[in-house]
Amino acid sequence: MTGSTTLFHVSDIHFGIEDQRAHAWFAAAVAQERPDAVICTGDLTQRAKHSEYAAATRWLKELGVPVFVEPGNHDLPYYNLAERFLTPFRRFETLAASVHCDLHMPQLIVIPLRTTVRAQRRFPWSDGVITQRALSACLTELERHQGDRRLKIIACHHPLVTRDPARPNPTIGGDEAVLALARAGAQVVLSGHVHDPFDFTREAEGRSLRMIGTGTLSRRLRSTRPSYTALEVTQAGGLTAWHRVFEGEIAA
Ligand SMILES: [Fe+2]
Repeated sequence: MTGSTTLFHVSDIHFGIEDQRAHAWFAAAVAQERPDAVICTGDLTQRAKHSEYAAATRWLKELGVPVFVEPGNHDLPYYNLAERFLTPFRRFETLAASVHCDLHMPQLIVIPLRTTVRAQRRFPWSDGVITQRALSACLTELERHQGDRRLKIIACHHPLVTRDPARPNPTIGGDEAVLALARAGAQVVLSGHVHDPFDFTREAEGRSLRMIGTGTLSRRLRSTRPSYTALEVTQAGGLTAWHRVFEGEIAA
């Protein structure tokens, strides 16, 4: 992969209900292949406990490569409602400060988009919401890089849209965000949350936005075994993605 950039995209590692064998499998791949960075799109913990955050921090640091993190809905305080409402991202930000890196690389830029909120008018609160503020922050960053030919990758926890446009979109503001991001020059969106990998392209006003979701390394499986995604970005800006599935014995 000379001249290209390799990223490992992992999500929903869920310390507290992690699959330790799947975690070890991922860490071994990082040690062996030395990707240029790991992107983790949220749900680092199961209940945002201090002990779960401590374990996640240790694990991410021990990977020994640059790590980019975004929070998921499980990363906001679950038991301490006062903290959830007053400082919802404090525990996450403590972790982020100790592992986080800005991913501005020779071939790509990774820009975060916050899709988790402390509360919303509907249930479940686990579904995604893209606030005007979060979208504006992301668009401002894209605007700053207008004319920059590097691949613009958005990293968020919740998928912005579903593969089938006829199905209801559980992410509030997702459709509008896709349109705005495509207009602003984003080319790829990486997400997690659904615990099953996917890869499809959504057209918006003649522009293409590739939506790549990765699986989980936790015991909370849906239809896929534990997995992560390896991404290679070439010098010409091409992107190849491989969903890698854990073939070993999975935790009960
Ligand atoms: Fe989630």
